Amino acid sequence: MKRFVDLADFSRDELLALLELARRLERQPEPRVLAGKILGLLFFNPSLRTLASFQAAMARLGGSSFVINPGHGSWALETRRGAVMVGAAAEHVREAIPVLASYCDSLGIRVFAEGRDLGADLAETTFNSMAELTDKPLINLESALNHPCQALADWKTMDDLAVPRGGRFVLSWAWHPRALPLAVPAAALHMAALRGMEVIVLRPEGFALPAAVMERAQRAALGAGGSVRETAAREEALEGADILYVKEWGATACYGDAAGDARLRSPLTGWCVRNDWFARTAPDCRVMHCLPVRRNTAIADEVLDGARSAVQREAANRLSVQTAVLHQLLK
Ligand code: CP
Repeated sequence: MKRFVDLADFSRDELLALLELARRLERQPEPRVLAGKILGLLFFNPSLRTLASFQAAMARLGGSSFVINPGHGSWALETRRGAVMVGAAAEHVREAIPVLASYCDSLGIRVFAEGRDLGADLAETTFNSMAELTDKPLINLESALNHPCQALADWKTMDDLAVPRGGRFVLSWAWHPRALPLAVPAAALHMAALRGMEVIVLRPEGFALPAAVMERAQRAALGAGGSVRETAAREEALEGADILYVKEWGATACYGDAAGDARLRSPLTGWCVRNDWFARTAPDCRVMHCLPVRRNTAIADEVLDGARSAVQREAANRLSVQTAVLHQLLK
C-alpha cells in the first residue's frame, strides 16, 4: 500500500483483507513492528479521535509521531497557489509539507472543505494540492469529501455487530446549528455501498447529497450487489433498518450561502434522533455517528445512552483499523 486517501483506491477484497488484518492485530499485537518509524500528523482542523487514535496506533506498533497544528504553536500556513502572503500565514504549504515529509516515514493530513465552491470541494482541490507535494505514504485524516479512516472503522463496526452484508443502512441527515462538511456522509454512503448494503439517504428537501456523490455510491453498489436511493420519508426509510447512520451536513441547495442554509434548516430541529423514530418499524436498529455529536440537537440522550448506540464502538475501531493501515503502509 502506497497511500490511504480513499476507499475507492482499493478493491473490495483488499478492504476485506485490511479489516482482517485489523482483527488479527487486535488478537495478536505486534508492539515492535514499526520500531524507528515516524508518523507526521498535520491538522488544519481540530480533532479528538483522529489525532489520539493515530498517535496511539503508532505507539502500539513501536513507532512514534509528531503533530503540527498550523497557527497553534507553529507557523500559520498558506494553502492558496499564487497567494501574495501579506496576511497571517508566515509559510506556504509548498515549503512546509516537503519539510515535514523529510522528518517522517508517513504523513497524515486533515484539511476540511472550504465550504464556498462545491465544485472545488468535490474535486478535493486543497487536499490534492498538498498530496502532490510529497512522495511519502500519505494518509487522508479527513478532506473536503472524504474520511476513509472513519469509513473503514464504520465498516468494521458493522462487522462486529454482525450486520448482514445486504442489510438496510439508512444515512440520515440530522439538525445542527450550522452547515457542516459533506466528508463523513459522503464517505459513509460510499462505504455502505461498497459493503453491498441496501443504502437509503434520508434527508429533508434542500439537503440532498451532490449528484456526483450519489452516482459514485451507486457505481460502488452495482459492483457489490447493493443499492442506493434517497428519500425524505422517515418511516418508510427506517422500516426494517439495521443501521441508522446519523450525520449533520450543510444544505447543498445553497452551498456556501450561510444565510440561505440557516433559512432552510431553521424549521428542521425535529430532525433530532429519538427512540420514537424506531418504535414501530425498526425496533432492533442500531445507531451510528462518527462523533463529535451535539447531544439533544442531532441525537437525544435517550438514544446515545441506550442499547442501540454504537458510537463508542465506532470510535474504538478507529484505533483498530488505523493500526492495520499503518502496518500495511510502513512495515
Ligand atoms: N470522527 C472523527 O474524525 O473525530 P475527530 O474529528 O475528533 O477526529
